[in-house]
Amino acid sequence: MLAGRAGTSRKAQHVNYRVQPTAQVDESAEIGAGSSIWELAQIREGAKLGEGCVVGRGAYVGSGVRIGDNVKLQNFALVYEPAELGDGVFVGPAVVLTNDQYPRSVDPDGRQKRGGDWEAVGVKVAEGASLGARSVCVAPVRIGRWAMVAAGAVVTKDVPDFALVVGVPARRIGWVGRSGVRLVAREREPGVWECPQSGAVYEEEDGALREQRVAPAP
Ligand SMILES: CC(C)(COP(=O)(O)OP(=O)(O)OC[C@H]1O[C@@H](n2cnc3c(N)ncnc32)[C@H](O)[C@@H]1OP(=O)(O)O)[C@@H](O)C(=O)NCCC(=O)NCCS
Repeated sequence: MLAGRAGTSRKAQHVNYRVQPTAQVDESAEIGAGSSIWELAQIREGAKLGEGCVVGRGAYVGSGVRIGDNVKLQNFALVYEPAELGDGVFVGPAVVLTNDQYPRSVDPDGRQKRGGDWEAVGVKVAEGASLGARSVCVAPVRIGRWAMVAAGAVVTKDVPDFALVVGVPARRIGWVGRSGVRLVAREREPGVWECPQSGAVYEEEDGALREQRVAPAP
């Protein structure tokens, strides 16, 4: 792996990230310090990745896509524009973030559609959320903070913060905390959930989950 070189990027020769020689990083893309771009990955024009990101083999980042810090795109993940990924998002292998709600190659007259002939719609993935292997997020859709999408799920509706969703179409089967582990309901305390791993406490109200605020020590 080359350090601080981006194959097609002149700008990148002065920056502090690593890119494999077979990856294609457009010269107008911005890649944050400490990021790694692996073999055959493609980062399109105007895309912006934060610091400490990992882009796996064969992954695709579309034009103008916005990606935060410490995001992992596993092998062959396809992130089509205008997706936006917050800090710490995990995108599993072969995940697809779509961008065309009613895709057609041609218009009703059979003429080939081009770039401006359709309206791209995006997927937003909020801070800390994870998308399991080979899941599909059908745009437009928002995945909430620290939510967990199961392997193979097809997400067609917004996913609330901390929700665990599975299946096709994806349905919520529980809640997860920041550690990703499923939360357990506290006995005799309706609406209170606890992480068995970290002990962190969450409160459910009106179908939404919030982290319990710890009062500062006096
Ligand atoms: C969704 C997931 C987090 C659930 O893990 P868990 O909390 O340990 O849940 P369990 O294995 O106890 O399963 C709970 C239920 O969900 C079902 N389930 C689990 N994973 C599922 C999936 N991917 N799709 C559909 N249903 C799933 C189980 O069959 C079980 O159903 P049941 O209650 O009717 O028996 C996990 O199965 C998963 O998909 N993780 C993502 C793995 C991944 O893609 N990693 C990427 C890096 S390789």
